[in-house]
Amino acid sequence: MKKVFAILLACALAGSLAACGNGGATSTPTPTPTPGQSQEPQSPESSPPAADAQPSQSGKTLVVYYSATGSTEAVAGYIADALDADTFEITPAEPYTSEDLNWSNSDSRVSREHEDESLRVVELTAATVENWDEYDTVFIGYPIWWGAAAWPVDGFIAANDFTGKTVIPFCTSSSSGLGDSGELLAEQAGTGDWKEGQRFRSSVDQTDVVDWVNGLGGTK
Ligand SMILES: Cc1cc2nc3c(=O)[nH]c(=O)nc-3n(C[C@H](O)[C@H](O)[C@H](O)COP(=O)(O)O)c2cc1C
Repeated sequence: MKKVFAILLACALAGSLAACGNGGATSTPTPTPTPGQSQEPQSPESSPPAADAQPSQSGKTLVVYYSATGSTEAVAGYIADALDADTFEITPAEPYTSEDLNWSNSDSRVSREHEDESLRVVELTAATVENWDEYDTVFIGYPIWWGAAAWPVDGFIAANDFTGKTVIPFCTSSSSGLGDSGELLAEQAGTGDWKEGQRFRSSVDQTDVVDWVNGLGGTK
């Protein structure tokens, strides 16, 4: 009887060791998983960044911009070319003339709007984009006006839901930096994963813009 028990115990031990061996083999992460292959969960130290912390590689990219005198438009074009992205221009229903943009005249349109925030509600020819849901990365470009994002972009931000989108602000200016213009737009939007963004000088070279785009990593 003792002998039978000993044999049974030996079998049980052999069985559990074999099971442990199999578990170890299946939990070893595959070094280079191919798309669609499932991976075992990993410890926080060894895990890659959470999927939602990276701009998605799967959806489309849209470059939205407002440009009063063409500088931001040029940058938007460089970004779109580099990423093979679509573009959307924010156009005020009443475009700003060069007189309107004369900030050294205290009575010009921009000066009055700057003085009185209630005048900054700019009607746009279109504030929403066809097939918005298809885009998971959205660049938003604008000139800096008085240290902030030119306000014609506000109407676009208010009209759209950025949930699930990676949003990358960029601006052009004579000398001011991006400042907190991106953060303020993110606050206005209230949704979306807003990245830090980038300022370019008004006459920036295409190569500088493309270098920045290529350095974003993970952004499609
Ligand atoms: C009303 C107004 C305010 C501006 N304020 C600033 C400013 O505060 N700092 C700055 O560096 N440039 C300022 N600029 C210059 C523009 O930011 C710069 O020329 C920009 O590249 C213009 O872009 P756009 O051609 O796409 O309109 C201002 C321009 C205008 C018309």
